[in-house]
Amino acid sequence: MDVDSTTMTMAAALAIVAALLVSLPVLYRLLFAGAGDKTSKKAVPPGSFGLPVVGHTLSLLGALRSNTAEDWLRRRVAAYGPVSRLSLFGYRTAFLVGPAANKFLFTSPALTTMNTEAFRRMVGRRTVRDVVGDEHARVRAMMVQFLRLDAVKRYVAGMDAEVRRHLDAHWRGRGAVAVMPSMKSLTFDVMSTVLFGLGRDSAVRRELSAEFQQLVQGIWSVPLNLPFTRFSRCLAASRRGRRAVAAVIEERRAKLERGESSPADDIITHMLSKGLADEQITDNVMFLMVAAHDTSAALITFLLRHLDANKDAYAKVLHEQEEIARCKAAGEALSWEDLCKMRYTWAAAMETLRLVPPAFSMLRRALTDVEYGGYLIPKGWQVMYATNMTHWDLAIFPDPGRFDPARFEDPSAIPPYGFVPFGGGARICPGNEFSKVETLVAVHHIVTRFRWKLAAGCDGSFSRSPMPYPSQGLLIDIEPIQ
Ligand code: HEM
Repeated sequence: MDVDSTTMTMAAALAIVAALLVSLPVLYRLLFAGAGDKTSKKAVPPGSFGLPVVGHTLSLLGALRSNTAEDWLRRRVAAYGPVSRLSLFGYRTAFLVGPAANKFLFTSPALTTMNTEAFRRMVGRRTVRDVVGDEHARVRAMMVQFLRLDAVKRYVAGMDAEVRRHLDAHWRGRGAVAVMPSMKSLTFDVMSTVLFGLGRDSAVRRELSAEFQQLVQGIWSVPLNLPFTRFSRCLAASRRGRRAVAAVIEERRAKLERGESSPADDIITHMLSKGLADEQITDNVMFLMVAAHDTSAALITFLLRHLDANKDAYAKVLHEQEEIARCKAAGEALSWEDLCKMRYTWAAAMETLRLVPPAFSMLRRALTDVEYGGYLIPKGWQVMYATNMTHWDLAIFPDPGRFDPARFEDPSAIPPYGFVPFGGGARICPGNEFSKVETLVAVHHIVTRFRWKLAAGCDGSFSRSPMPYPSQGLLIDIEPIQ
């Protein structure tokens, strides 16, 4: 056994022992909170809660890391049907599958959003996802102000400049590039400039970028703050990130008070002007930084991977992008009108979101006893859907393993709640237009400037934590197009 695996084994053993110790309150809840099950007429969903305390958490996390989580979930569906029970992150959980289940999860007033404990401790407890009712509407509106279509249209030229700069600095003159780290850094830069007003020369931007690369690894980890655990490393990164964000808030407040800035300048100044408390601004900035950059980076990365493997689709994307490039003067930025012509490229991006959705699953919590599919979901239970259970549904997407952007040429052919990479209902991702523009701009410049193929030894496989991450970061050999 090498040092790494010894350390991992020790860490895992420590994690399990400590989980047993620190989880006594959870154990109590598991044993007694479900007492209502016995008196209720409807049965709770079939299945099992797995091992005491840890339930299915370690097993599912292991499956995610080995990219077998879909099979793991399919086995449950085969055994128990589309509504089943399991235990995750210390909560009794109803696992629901299918478009009707998605609709229920996204729209039922009996359910509220829920983040894992690890997420809450690293990102915050008062993020837009944690607040409900009027407060949710208020905080969400502050973000939407910067994410709605008319705002996003104004970012096209700025995104274009960031993409060009990134490719000049990190792709030009190189023989090989690891796509995922490159796209993470690009999407972090785009978001920092466009939404937070943290320019290229900002030291805080560089510091935050490093902390967030670490932090996102722990969103679905077991929240055990012990040496060697993934969670403790990510928590430390979160603390450093929060301190950096707090310093930016201070600086923005001073500028606002001196009349040197306007609420329209960036999201932080806007939130300050609306009277949001510092702690809540920090939580929401942390949330946005997590929500906005890894997701889009995964989309762009896996789109390039699928285009490499599907030469017909690649040829169509290239043709579409070359037609647009032909009408531009050298160095001229893309415009909103150009993006509107990128229909096939966006269909290919949606097909990528179908096959490799960045958000593996979303969680909700039952506020009251609620019924679904003939079963009782008791108050306090967690409710979970997994995006790919719908995206790989044969009845909606025949031959689901095949990469076929034509499926999205007529999006109205897809049943409601049949394609849910951005969620749905009142909580649907407000950043979907932002990520669309960012993706199209990045893909335009990559395909018109470079040819690529997977580097020797890079097989395009990936794991999840829970965000998908390709092996070797998707290492590709590149050559410039003259
Ligand atoms: C490919 C890129 C992206 C994907 C796949 C994605 C996916 C999602 C999903 C699945 C949700 C949860 C919906 C639910 O709980 O029902 C969500 C929420 C959210 N996303 Fe995104 N997202 C992406 C990009 C972005 C970007 C670029 C931003 C911001 C610039 C953003 C901001 C948010 C926010 C603020 C929420 C919380 C909404 C609420 O609770 O009201 N996302 N996203």
